[in-house]
Amino acid sequence: MRYAVLGAAGQLGRDLCPRLEGEVVALGRTSSPAVDLSRPESLRALFDEARPDVVVNCAAYNFVDKAESEPEAAFAVNAWGVRELARLCAERDCLLVHFSTDYVFGLDAARRTPWSESDAPGPVSVYGLSKLAGEYLVRALCPRHLVLRTCGLYGVWGSGGKGGNFVETMLRLAGQGKPLRVVNDQTCTPSYTVDVAEASIALMNTGQTGLYHLTNSGSCTWHELARTIFELSGLSVDLAPIPSCEYPVPARRPTYSVLDLAGLHEAGIAVPRPWREALTAYLQERLRKT
Ligand SMILES: NC(=O)c1ccc[n+]([C@@H]2O[C@H](COP(=O)([O-])OP(=O)(O)OC[C@H]3O[C@@H](n4cnc5c(N)ncnc54)[C@H](OP(=O)(O)O)[C@@H]3O)[C@@H](O)[C@H]2O)c1
Repeated sequence: MRYAVLGAAGQLGRDLCPRLEGEVVALGRTSSPAVDLSRPESLRALFDEARPDVVVNCAAYNFVDKAESEPEAAFAVNAWGVRELARLCAERDCLLVHFSTDYVFGLDAARRTPWSESDAPGPVSVYGLSKLAGEYLVRALCPRHLVLRTCGLYGVWGSGGKGGNFVETMLRLAGQGKPLRVVNDQTCTPSYTVDVAEASIALMNTGQTGLYHLTNSGSCTWHELARTIFELSGLSVDLAPIPSCEYPVPARRPTYSVLDLAGLHEAGIAVPRPWREALTAYLQERLRKT
């Protein structure tokens, strides 16, 4: 099996590539061939040179706040580039594995139960809307697809584009000794890229196609996550919960975006471990790597 992985240098891509069994062509904007989703004409080379059986798209325009002021850039990568990728995969009969986000939800602000794949999405940000457009284009144009919605990713490589991840940001800020205020009214499921990568591969290996939710299990707020990071790291930090209105940012976030994992379970895939266990494993792994 030959895999072409876009966004191979991102935090998910870096944990996914070494776990794929078969030949893996790791692609990015500076690889050879260079693949840039904002230049759809660059995508054909991927198929001509890498000749993949499976294309895995871990690449995205991920700047949630910046997307509010540059929607064209977000849509160029997350929707129009993905549209061309989906068309080419369909033309070459490749399986397209495409990652999406819990931020396709949020419009129903009263929701407090996990979202299933059959629930109607409703994003509240340009980023969420651009990712939802990408999902629909994959599902409409490429019959052999897996669209995998995940959430709150952290991996030891850190998000290339955003520089680090939430866990690293909290540990860095804690090191500065200042009081920390973290929002306590947004609930989701922080997910370790190793677990997301492994469950994605297990799902690919079943031969199933369609839309799936794929995160660690359980849920927490960002404040609960921060508290747990410090607790597991043995750090005493002056940490207080705040409502989102006290931390103004350009993009709205969903109040509750926990994803139901029943679809994954029904596909015969072990539901990834609880987020706290995964976080413990991450904290151990980052110590081993440094
Ligand atoms: N991070 C999260 O919390 C989160 C949550 C839910 C869903 N997701 C989704 O999960 C997937 C993986 O996210 P991640 O956190 O691993 O992202 P990441 O670490 O920020 O990596 C994103 C990758 O996308 C590539 N990229 C950006 N613009 C590109 C373009 N125009 N053409 C080609 N490649 C481009 C970057 O390549 P360069 O190395 O060239 O910059 C980078 O390797 C994405 O689909 C994301 O939307 C992420």
